[in-house]
Amino acid sequence: MKLLVTGAAGFIGSAFVRMLLGRQDGTSVTVLDKLTYAGNLENLEPVRDLAGFAFVRGDIANAEVVNALTADLKPDAIVHFAAESHVDRSILSPGEFFETNLRGTFTLLEAARAYKVPRFVHVSTDEVYGSLDEPLEADENFPLNTSSPYSASKAGSDLLVRSYFLTYGLQTLITRASNNYGPYHFPEKLIPLMINNALEGKELPVYGDGMQVRDWLFVEDHARGIEAVLKSGRAGEIYNIGGNCSLPNLEVVNRIIAATGASPSQIKYVQDRPGHDRRYALDSSKLTRETGWSPQVEFNDGLRITVDWYRNNRGWIDRVRSKEYLKFYDENYTRRGPAGVAA
Ligand code: NAD
Ligand code: TYD
Repeated sequence: MKLLVTGAAGFIGSAFVRMLLGRQDGTSVTVLDKLTYAGNLENLEPVRDLAGFAFVRGDIANAEVVNALTADLKPDAIVHFAAESHVDRSILSPGEFFETNLRGTFTLLEAARAYKVPRFVHVSTDEVYGSLDEPLEADENFPLNTSSPYSASKAGSDLLVRSYFLTYGLQTLITRASNNYGPYHFPEKLIPLMINNALEGKELPVYGDGMQVRDWLFVEDHARGIEAVLKSGRAGEIYNIGGNCSLPNLEVVNRIIAATGASPSQIKYVQDRPGHDRRYALDSSKLTRETGWSPQVEFNDGLRITVDWYRNNRGWIDRVRSKEYLKFYDENYTRRGPAGVAA
């Protein structure tokens, strides 16, 4: 199989490419990535010299680049990970989210249509279903109900992808996964941020009361789920990919404290995120029923692997942080007052 994979210098896309190319079974992968603050070629270091790997730096919203690459490569499938992916950044500056997540997806769809790409897998998120009350779980028919500019841009891109199936017959598939965690995760998301702050004796900034619930999925389980959809999913369908592991944020932070030997006194309650979704919960039984996929890594095992990875890769974290991340950290946390103080 010859794949064009967008955004694979990031967290999840790189796990997907490392998994596929690590097998050396003749699969070839060309990565298209803009290398934004979140894109890091080091994440692809383990496969850089393997047969079948190629990297192109470019913007998915640039039609010239996307068309030329698609025409030249003639991929069997496009697997589309590239996105602006962080809710807090979407609150501080939403413009880039609409450029990449909407215009970028549109540009790829147009190229796939023009050059007759046989399959298009669009990687999306459970955040498109919005906040769910107990004991609801969203299946693929659940209404879209977004809260942040990030989730709105992802929901918009999902609808655009679906329209290309219904209107042009492009063979599209959409995946909607829950919160991922694992090695190579950019340190602005909850789990890597807390692990690194815990290891460094820094404050652990919990938004609001910390009782928001997320469903945690180990990144390698997600990569296997996307492969299952790519290879066995039915065109035109949507597939949820959940971790079957719902936990309040505070519980996650406490487990990180236990796993790192940090002190509970490092927890600091800070002002809540505006529009903060209280609870996500996914029903992924369709993917299991149709492909046999299920999450394999228990949360405590995945967390141990992740903590060990960050302990052993301090150089990676230093290099990542020396980029634009520090500027964002300052904006997001320095201006965020303590809990209970209005914005
Ligand atoms: P990430 O932020 O780690 O990586 C995104 C990658 O996309 C980076 O390599 C970046 O350089 C690249 N990129 C951004 N804009 C680009 C552009 N205009 N052109 C080309 N490349 C561009 O994101 P991630 O966590 O790996 O998420 C990957 C996908 O999975 C996203 O579509 C996201 O919405 C979805 N998703 C993420 C999660 C999660 O928990 N992280 C959960 C469900 C779904
Ligand atoms: P995040 O990793 O940003 O993922 P998402 O918002 O896409 O679910 O956040 C996960 C949860 O952790 C979310 O409820 C917000 C919360 N959170 C904190 O409490 N403190 C933090 O510093 C961060 C980054 C997130």
